[in-house]
Amino acid sequence: MKKHTIRLHPIGKELQVNDQTHLIDVLHEFGIEFPCGGKGTCGKCKVRLLDGEIAITEIHRQKLEQLGLASDWRLSCFSLCTNDITLEIEQFNHLILADESEFNFSPREGFGIAVDLGTTTIVAQLVDLSSAKVLAVETMLNPQVKFGADLISRIQACLDGNSFEMTTIVRSSIGTMIRLMLKKYDVRVQKVVLVGNSAMQLIFSNCDVAPLSAYPFHIDNPGLKTFNPKELGWDLEVKENVQFYPSIGSFVGSDILAGIAATGLHLKENYTALIDLGTNGEIVIGNKNQIVCASTAAGPAFEGANISMGMRAVTGAIASLQLVEGKIEASVIGNTAPKGICGSALIDAIALLRKMELIGMFGEINSGEPQITIAGKVILTQRDINEFQLAKAAIAAGLTILARTLSIDLTDIEEIYIAGAFGSYINIENVVETGMIELPADKIHKMGNTALIGAKIFLFSDMGIVNNILAKTRHISLEADPGFQDIYVDKLLFP
Ligand code: FES
Repeated sequence: MKKHTIRLHPIGKELQVNDQTHLIDVLHEFGIEFPCGGKGTCGKCKVRLLDGEIAITEIHRQKLEQLGLASDWRLSCFSLCTNDITLEIEQFNHLILADESEFNFSPREGFGIAVDLGTTTIVAQLVDLSSAKVLAVETMLNPQVKFGADLISRIQACLDGNSFEMTTIVRSSIGTMIRLMLKKYDVRVQKVVLVGNSAMQLIFSNCDVAPLSAYPFHIDNPGLKTFNPKELGWDLEVKENVQFYPSIGSFVGSDILAGIAATGLHLKENYTALIDLGTNGEIVIGNKNQIVCASTAAGPAFEGANISMGMRAVTGAIASLQLVEGKIEASVIGNTAPKGICGSALIDAIALLRKMELIGMFGEINSGEPQITIAGKVILTQRDINEFQLAKAAIAAGLTILARTLSIDLTDIEEIYIAGAFGSYINIENVVETGMIELPADKIHKMGNTALIGAKIFLFSDMGIVNNILAKTRHISLEADPGFQDIYVDKLLFP
């Protein structure tokens, strides 16, 4: 078959591909994102054609026109490689959160591998079980991103007949990550623990995700899934098994189970909360007697989706904002001109604009203008502010309803841990200023990748810890709470 070369500028990579290769199939690993799953509506997969030809169909031309892109741009999701080409792409600079934190463990013999299979990123660590020391780390973007950025698009892609490919690519990617770690340390693996949200667990396990696409979102078998490395296509010997840990509920997966283990909230006398501000926002409140948890549709705005100039934390994104002598100053990733705003800076922007009295308590722009300039060409529109209100209200309402379910007051929560890569970059004072978490900032702590910490804790234990957590945990549907609508509307307001 005819082969072509794709040169990627400015990262200087070259790929050899077969004739008629879809760009969407090869560019995801270089940081190109496909939030709309290849429908041609988001424009985020755009690349600039510097050399060579990419034929444009009529529909592709219309999409470029609708997105206001000049004639040298192409949407990767609509493009085929039919000759040698040079493309300009965003430099891959995705922030993936590994973990080096310490935790309590009882030493064991051998080596283990912990994997956090996230919707956006995958992190794997090789751990010496005698010391809990991390010997090697591998990170990558989840190759399923070419099927869409969020869980809903992934589930839809499975329903559209792509489930086999989605299972195969994720199994093979994790297999490669493990192989790379074992190349550096040729050791005998005792146990492999995987954690991830419910959809990731089902897709990895080659189970049907259809129940997650429609009410009542009930998964028949969210339990522990055990595999032989051979059936996953991994050329690896594992003394015990490869295990994907159980989900707690339909949209609360083993990443949150691991997060509970990482915070130790299931052992504490006082009430503690865990909030994972990932693509899906999950909330847990509990103590040693009882735990409640729920998922909210909070994540997309915090990850740049639905925000007109929203983007992930890559080069050119405003990462944070400060008020200096009455003026907003922006820190931009890569020290370049700002191209857009990522979730952490969106929270800063709202908090600062409120402080400057440029937006009112209903989220209205006080000047009556349709937008506010944040830095350079980056603006926030009235719609963006309203999108943020929807996301922050989802978290605030979730916390209130879970506290009510436990018959406690929000103020009874001693500590709140914020998990996830996004959570690591937020300014907690500004989170409080927006009303997303209605507790003093000194009760709120960032904890990093709690899913990975928990997965490592599971490497050292039998199922006792998991059974203990599951036995006292209730999964709540926030929308089913009779007070949900009123509470949610109330939380849309700024304090
Ligand atoms: S336009 Fe959205 S993925 Fe291509």
